[in-house]
Amino acid sequence: PKPSDKPRINGAKIYGQRPGKPFLYKIAATGKEPLSYDAVNLPAGLKIDKKKGIITGSVKDKGEYTVSVTVKNKLGSAKENIKFAIGDLLALTPPMGWNSWNCWGLAVDQEKVIASAKVYIEKGLAKHGWTFINIDDGWEIVGKSTAPKRDPQGNILVNEKFPDMKALGDSIHSMGLKFGIYSSPGPLTCGGYTASYQYELKDAMSYASWGIDYLKYDWCSYDQIAKDTSLAERMKPYFVMRDALKQIDRDIVYSLCQYGMSNVWEWGEKVDGNLWRTTGDITDTWESMSGIGFSQIENAKYAKPGRWNDPDMLVVGWVGWGPSLHPTKLTPDEQYTHISLWSLLSAPLLIGCDLTRLDDFTLNLLTNDEVIGIDQDPLGSQAVPVIKKGNIQVWKKKLADGNFAVGIFNLGNETETFTFDFTEAALNGKSMLRDLWRQKDLGSFNGKYECKIPSHGVILLKVN
Ligand code: GAL
Repeated sequence: PKPSDKPRINGAKIYGQRPGKPFLYKIAATGKEPLSYDAVNLPAGLKIDKKKGIITGSVKDKGEYTVSVTVKNKLGSAKENIKFAIGDLLALTPPMGWNSWNCWGLAVDQEKVIASAKVYIEKGLAKHGWTFINIDDGWEIVGKSTAPKRDPQGNILVNEKFPDMKALGDSIHSMGLKFGIYSSPGPLTCGGYTASYQYELKDAMSYASWGIDYLKYDWCSYDQIAKDTSLAERMKPYFVMRDALKQIDRDIVYSLCQYGMSNVWEWGEKVDGNLWRTTGDITDTWESMSGIGFSQIENAKYAKPGRWNDPDMLVVGWVGWGPSLHPTKLTPDEQYTHISLWSLLSAPLLIGCDLTRLDDFTLNLLTNDEVIGIDQDPLGSQAVPVIKKGNIQVWKKKLADGNFAVGIFNLGNETETFTFDFTEAALNGKSMLRDLWRQKDLGSFNGKYECKIPSHGVILLKVN
């Protein structure tokens, strides 16, 4: 359903930043414009732009601050408490953003990045919690070029497609959005561009000066540097960048990308990663998406606020790894499965498509607040499969309010009818069900729920 014209506050209700660091939080709210925003009980050091709903400043002291946020328009008002946790942890809910890789690949440039940010505002994605605009590989100088890769002081140089990173960061921030970048701990990125080996602190300082808020740090050519495949060698480069990031005057969400080697979920927290890729690269096929999504089981217990398993970026909309794009090969039902499963998994949600070509269906997939709400649930628990019968899998996720989100998936090639037996999923005999994609109460059910699930499709429920 389309969002109501009445105000509704969406997005994460808990947000973490470190003390003394630049603070930026945009209130995500739908409703007919013009909307006006207010926040009461802001901690000292923060102020709100009441027209844009953007809160900025810096908070000196650690602590948990409950801020009462109001959003108003002619039709009414909405109020929510939002917790600002000023402490050590970032990404208290899975990051939501856009990344250039699955659409533009190495053909990314500044115009494409800024165009994506503008779509967040113009098409309203920011009203649903979409925050990060992340450049993936392709912004540095190509490794095999004869041009200098760094200035005489060792600062990394950008290529001609990114003439002014600081200006790009400023314009992303002026929209209340956040700015992400990509590098590798080896000498080169996966795409053969200059990376951070032996310049980690220099690079972290450049990121800080450009206003970077998120770093995806991709193993790639570090294979040439690592002495062996031991856990210590696998962790080493991530400690080095962690230490560099600690020294700068900015919060940077730290995204580890090394495809799950050495069970990264077991130690990602030790190197202070906020998220870590658990698999190789996704593509826009059912085999790839479902193969990755339905195998995220063993890592479930490691997901928690600030620490997320990352089964890779979304493949809905126009994708293609650049420069030419095509509409995703996933069917509509497979796309519902993709977004439902990633939300149940508390996965980072990183849109991988050309946002300037968003069709209504894709926009709708990405802006259903009740579905996103499952991903952004503050408890931060990751769903696990609780029933597997033939082609049907039922995945269950515990929510902060004591209720559950449940996905009933049909992995088979035909529509199937299924009797969902609550006790088999360790749920109460009598339960109220809500269909989250349709945002509709289904009623109260005693012991079981009969349903029909299309091939490769899903029914996503909230179970009270
Ligand atoms: C891969 C990574 C992709 C993308 C690419 C860039 O290693 O998994 O997500 O970042 O490198 O070259």
